[in-house]
Amino acid sequence: MPHDIYKNKKVFITGHTGFKGSWLAMWLHTIGAEVVGYSLPPEELSHFNLLKLPIKNYFQNINDESALLSALKDSSPDIVFHLAAQPLVRDSYDDPITTYNTNVLGTMKVYWAAVQAGVKSLVSITTDKVYENHEWIWGYRENDQLGGHDPYSSSKACVEIMTDSFRKSFLNDNKMLLATARAGNVIGGGDWARDRLIPDLVKNAAMGLVTPLRNPKSVRPWQHVLEPLNGYLLLGEQLLLGNKEFTTSFNFGPESHDIASVENMSELANLSWDKINVQIVKETIIKHEAGLLKLDITKSCHLLAWQPVWDSKKATATTINWYKNFYQNQMISSRENLEEFIALL
Ligand SMILES: NC(=O)c1ccc[n+]([C@@H]2O[C@H](COP(=O)([O-])OP(=O)(O)OC[C@H]3O[C@@H](n4cnc5c(N)ncnc54)[C@H](O)[C@@H]3O)[C@@H](O)[C@H]2O)c1
Repeated sequence: MPHDIYKNKKVFITGHTGFKGSWLAMWLHTIGAEVVGYSLPPEELSHFNLLKLPIKNYFQNINDESALLSALKDSSPDIVFHLAAQPLVRDSYDDPITTYNTNVLGTMKVYWAAVQAGVKSLVSITTDKVYENHEWIWGYRENDQLGGHDPYSSSKACVEIMTDSFRKSFLNDNKMLLATARAGNVIGGGDWARDRLIPDLVKNAAMGLVTPLRNPKSVRPWQHVLEPLNGYLLLGEQLLLGNKEFTTSFNFGPESHDIASVENMSELANLSWDKINVQIVKETIIKHEAGLLKLDITKSCHLLAWQPVWDSKKATATTINWYKNFYQNQMISSRENLEEFIALL
């Protein structure tokens, strides 16, 4: 069974009520880990609520240092996956203070509390947007320059710099192994966030509406959510095994030929659900977002033996069918998706 190492391990996930965190909690629970989650309360319509996982929940803020420390001490986890964040580029323009507060200071509080609680392994989730974007055709490598035009991207680049400093300043005796994971745009069932392509397409399709497309030519490294999660689990495994050479950063994204524009993805989505229709619109208020963003995944493929399992066509079809099933039959197919994916590992 892939990721067997997590069986009977105590795993603490921040951001487990969110899109990625809920899939990670489900995967870990499925393979026999004891999952503890720490997040703000879930939205009423959320993948987390639909899954009804029998796990321990703390509905608290990562910026509440004493609540965080006591949750970590009480749980005494073998490993922490830190996903809690304000993850939306557009919201980061509206509320940069919360964005930096949660993403940068909140992450420092998670690291600090984890060390105080005696945690030995921590995987910290940043993003593909941590790189200084040159809008070039090459994929960014882990040792490329960090940067970030918008507040969200730069907050995550700050996390990368802070993580490096934290390791050098407080972890040079390797008392906690700390790595970061940078993944691209993920898709999958159960994401209802605002201003994300697939959620917008399916919400509008369910209401019989056409979706306005803002940046049809923008190219992103789209992947099914299970792809980076597989990478996070492989990376966590190395930390659990005490392999300190893995305390660096790792990219997780699609093969370089398998990238797609917003327009391509909408066309693929329409193949699975003909109610999905789009109309290209010109933006009235321009908020800068990267146009071309590719990731180089050589390091993860070589060192973690990680590789993409589903291409963008399969990922999109699986995702759109998840939502179709949800809106038409009020059922979720997350467990079936996971089973199908694990069988290919
Ligand atoms: N979804 C993507 O395409 C994508 C791509 C790259 C990186 N990421 C990163 O992956 C992680 C998860 O993203 P997501 O898409 O699941 O986001 P999401 O918005 O669905 O979930 C965010 C989670 O963080 C929690 N959270 C937010 N602020 C908090 C706070 N102050 N205290 C405690 N919990 C808090 C929320 O309750 C929720 O559980 C984030 O770190 C994000 O930056 C996401």
